[in-house]
Amino acid sequence: MKILLAGGAGYIGSHTALQLMAAGHEVVIADNFDNSCEEAVKRVNELAGKEAVLYEADVREKEALRRIFREHSIDCVIHFAGLKAVGESVKEPIRYYRNNIDTTLSLLETMAEAGVKNIIFSSSATVYGEENPVPLRETMRRGSCTNPYGWTKYMMEQILQDASAADPELSVVLLRYFNPIGAHPSGRIGEDPQGIPNNLMPYISQVAVGRRDHLTIYGDDYPTPDGTCRRDYIHVMDLADGHVKAVEYAVKHKGTEIFNLGTGTPYSVLEVVHAFEESTGVKVPFEIGPRRAGDLAECYANADKALEILGWKTTRNLEDMCRDTWNWQKQNPMGYRPDKKQ
Ligand code: NAD
Ligand code: UD1
Repeated sequence: MKILLAGGAGYIGSHTALQLMAAGHEVVIADNFDNSCEEAVKRVNELAGKEAVLYEADVREKEALRRIFREHSIDCVIHFAGLKAVGESVKEPIRYYRNNIDTTLSLLETMAEAGVKNIIFSSSATVYGEENPVPLRETMRRGSCTNPYGWTKYMMEQILQDASAADPELSVVLLRYFNPIGAHPSGRIGEDPQGIPNNLMPYISQVAVGRRDHLTIYGDDYPTPDGTCRRDYIHVMDLADGHVKAVEYAVKHKGTEIFNLGTGTPYSVLEVVHAFEESTGVKVPFEIGPRRAGDLAECYANADKALEILGWKTTRNLEDMCRDTWNWQKQNPMGYRPDKKQ
């Protein structure tokens, strides 16, 4: 099949592009490099031994999408394109709504024109909000979000579900990711955040490689076994494999289906720090700081539905996630751009 990856040069898109090509699919990537670079796609091609077709394009621009749909007979779209920094979304809500909602609308409109009927969307566990008990199941009500980024995911899920209700031919798969970490085991591709990382694993690996002094753990007084928050960390390669299964599912089904992509096993911040130290042999100095606004004590998936329907489950453990993150970070201390400032 030929798959269009909107936002496919980014962290999750690049790993998914590789796994799709390994599974024998053809990949077309559209990305404006807002949070990525061409080098990632070059490395994906090297690893795959095949070429993904790359368009430098803003996915909000319908003319750019029309050209892609004219030049390629696309079987399925995977929509990764979006802005994803929670704190930034609080400061710049309009930019987040404009980018994230518009990319979705433009994709749906041009897909309808071109007769493309299958779309997979990168959603997030954040749509469960604060009210639901863990482990989180797809049947639970979506909660109220604590930031504009989360609301864009909530709204885009709604837009996609409404579109599929109105067009019985449309197949929509909403993938709710938990906490993706890790990198391809070669260390050639990985997560390359701009500026100071917001998320735990990139922060840990930048401390380990000497770019940052120490990690601040946001609170140790939560109602969890060691007092630090627990999350469902998932290896990005497992997540990428989940997309391959989702594509195969999407083209055979109609309507909307929702899947959690997580392991179902939570780890605390302290457990992650210790696992990183053990699997890499590198010390990660840390201090305990105050809680971060908006953090939940626990967030983890019930991942049964993806196993039952997609036949997908995770195969990589926390040690693999730490080792592969470190392998990427130490080979690429400044990410894809060696001349980058901190
Ligand atoms: P990323 O920033 O690495 O990738 C997103 C890609 O989209 C980037 O390459 C960026 O340049 C591109 N992009 C953004 N706006 C665009 C536009 N208007 N036109 C074309 N390209 C555009 O992020 P990621 O971690 O790979 O996440 C991919 C998707 O998964 C995002 O939608 C994100 O919200 C979602 N998600 C990520 C996580 C996570 O922890 N990484 C968790 C849940 C959901
Ligand atoms: C965060 C976002 C969430 C988004 C997800 C994407 C917030 C409040 N939530 O989730 O909306 O979908 O990223 O991956 O930003 N931690 C530290 N020190 C750090 C960084 C993190 O202690 O320097 C802790 C956090 O308090 C949390 C855990 O590590 O308990 C994981 O944090 P993070 O990687 O940011 O993910 P989430 O908070 O789960």
